[in-house]
Amino acid sequence: MSLEIETRVLNSPGPISDAFLLSRAFIKIIIGPVGSAKTMTALRALVEVAKRQKGRVDGRGVLWRKARVGVIRETYPNIEKNTLPSWFDVFPEELGKFTWKAPYTHRLQLILAEDEDGNAIDVVDFEIEFRAIGDRSVEEACRGWQVAAVMVDEADLQPPELLAFLTGRVGRGGIDAAMMVDPQIILSLNAPYMDNWVYGLAIEKNLGEMTDDLREVLGDRELLEVFIQPGGREPDAENLHNLPQGYYQVQAAANKHRPDYVARMIDNKFVPMQHGQPVNPQFDYRTHVRKLEWDRSRKLILGFDQGLFAAAVASQRTTMGHFRTLREAVMFREDGKTLAKIGPTAFGQMCKAMLNEHFFDLHPDMIRVVGDPAAWAASDREDSELDWIKAFRKALGLPVHRAKTNKAALRNEAIWRAMGERDGYAVDESCKHLIRGHLGGYHYRKAEISDGETRGHLEIADTIHTHVCDGEQYAALEGEHVIADIRGTPRGGATVRLDSNFDVFAGG
Ligand SMILES: Nc1ncnc2c1ncn2[C@@H]1O[C@H](COP(=O)(O)OP(=O)(O)OP(=O)(O)O)[C@@H](O)[C@H]1O
Ligand SMILES: [Mg+2]
Repeated sequence: MSLEIETRVLNSPGPISDAFLLSRAFIKIIIGPVGSAKTMTALRALVEVAKRQKGRVDGRGVLWRKARVGVIRETYPNIEKNTLPSWFDVFPEELGKFTWKAPYTHRLQLILAEDEDGNAIDVVDFEIEFRAIGDRSVEEACRGWQVAAVMVDEADLQPPELLAFLTGRVGRGGIDAAMMVDPQIILSLNAPYMDNWVYGLAIEKNLGEMTDDLREVLGDRELLEVFIQPGGREPDAENLHNLPQGYYQVQAAANKHRPDYVARMIDNKFVPMQHGQPVNPQFDYRTHVRKLEWDRSRKLILGFDQGLFAAAVASQRTTMGHFRTLREAVMFREDGKTLAKIGPTAFGQMCKAMLNEHFFDLHPDMIRVVGDPAAWAASDREDSELDWIKAFRKALGLPVHRAKTNKAALRNEAIWRAMGERDGYAVDESCKHLIRGHLGGYHYRKAEISDGETRGHLEIADTIHTHVCDGEQYAALEGEHVIADIRGTPRGGATVRLDSNFDVFAGG
C-alpha cells in the first residue's frame, strides 16, 4: 500500500533556531519576532525529545521506543488556528492517527532506523496531545499528564503558575519512568513585556532553589537555556527564506501607529508593560468602525450588563458568523463624559426606546436579550440582582436570558476572535462609547507592584467603559458554536481519518 502524502521539506530557519532545536536544557525558551519559525521549531523539538527516549527490543529484534509529549495553549481555537497548521507542516494529519476531539491527539510511528532490507529496526511509538487551558485552572488543565516533554506556545500569554505545574508533570512516565530520557519544558513566545513572568524567568533568570530531585532529573544538562532570535528587520533575521518578500517591512509599516507592537513583534525588543493598555488591542478604527445596516432576516441580540451603570448593545451575527454591533444604550450625565446611575426600570425603558427608534417593527421572535448569568442568583439582600432583572424585563417588555457564561477568559476571547478574523468584527459609528472603550477606555488595571513582586497577570480596570464592553461580550457569546469553539468541545460530527500503521519517514 502506498500513500500519497505531501510532506513539507523543512530547512534550517537560522543558527539560533537550530541551537534551540538541539538544546537539551530542562527548560528551553525561544524568543523571536512573528513568523520566525518559533512554533514550528518548538514542535520539532518535541520530536527530538521523542527520538531520545529509551525502548525495549521485541522478539524480532526491533527496538520500540515510547514517547508521549504535549502542547499547551490558552484556547482550542488558537490551537486550531495557529499551532495545528504548524504541526501539520511537521507531520501531516494524514500520517498516523489524528483525533479531532479535544484534547487533540496525534499518534505516529517514527522510524529511526531500518535494516538492509528496509525493515524498521528502531521505531518510536509517538503520541502528541494538544491541550487548552480554556476557562479551567492550570492544575485542572494539566491533570493526569504523563509526558516526556511539553511545549508551551505563546508562553507569555499563559498563567505564570503553569511552569510550576509542568515541572511536576514533565518527566513522569508512570511505570515506564526508567525509560524516560531528558524530559523537557519548551517555551516559545514573542518578546514579552518586561513585567511578564517569562521576562523574569528568561531574562532575569529568576529560578527557584535547585532541589535534589531537580538535580537528578537534570543530570549533565543545563536547567535553563534561552535563545533570542534577531529582530525581523535585522540583517541576520531568521526564517526569512520561508516568508513572503518584505514580510517584516510591510507589517512594520501597517503598525506604525503602534510602536510597542512593532518593537515586540517585529524587532523582538522587550518593552515596559504599559499597564493601562487596551484589552482589545486588535481593535482598529479604520478597519472596524463604519455605518452598519440592520439585517432584518437575522436575530438581533441585546447584550446588557446590569447594575448601577447598566449598559447594553444591539448586535448581530452575519451568515458568515461575523460579529456586528449596531447600536448602544448607555446613559450619560449631562457633561456627556461620565455615566449616570440608572435603575432597572429606566434602563429597560431606555433599551426599549433604542429598539423602537433603530429597529422599527422588530418582531419579538427576532430578538434575544442576554445578560450576566450571575444576576440570576437570588439573594436575601434588599436589592437583589434578581429583582433588578425582574424590573428590567418588565420595563423592556421582552424575555431576558442568561448569557452563556460570565467567565472573563471566554468573554474576552469571543471578542478577540471576532476582531482577529478578517472582517470578523465591525461596530456602527454611532456606538461612540463602545468605540472609546475598544480604543483603550476598556483597559487593564495599572500595576500594583508591592515588595518587589512582579505581576504578569493583568486585571481589567473598572472604568466607565467596562459596562458597555461587558454587554457586548455577552452578545458575542450568542453565536453558533462560539462557546464550544473556545472551550474546545467538539461541534459534533467527528471526521473519519485515514489510519495507517506503517508510516515511514526518515528520522529528520
Ligand atoms: N524549518 C522550516 N522549514 C520550512 N518552513 C518553515 C520552517 N519553520 C517554519 N517554517 C514556516 O515559516 C512560517 C512561520 O513559522 P511559525 O509559524 O513556526 O513561526 P512563528 O515564529 O511561530 O510565528 P508566529 O509569531 O506568527 O506564531 C510558517 O509558514 C512555517 O511553515
Ligand atoms: Mg507561532
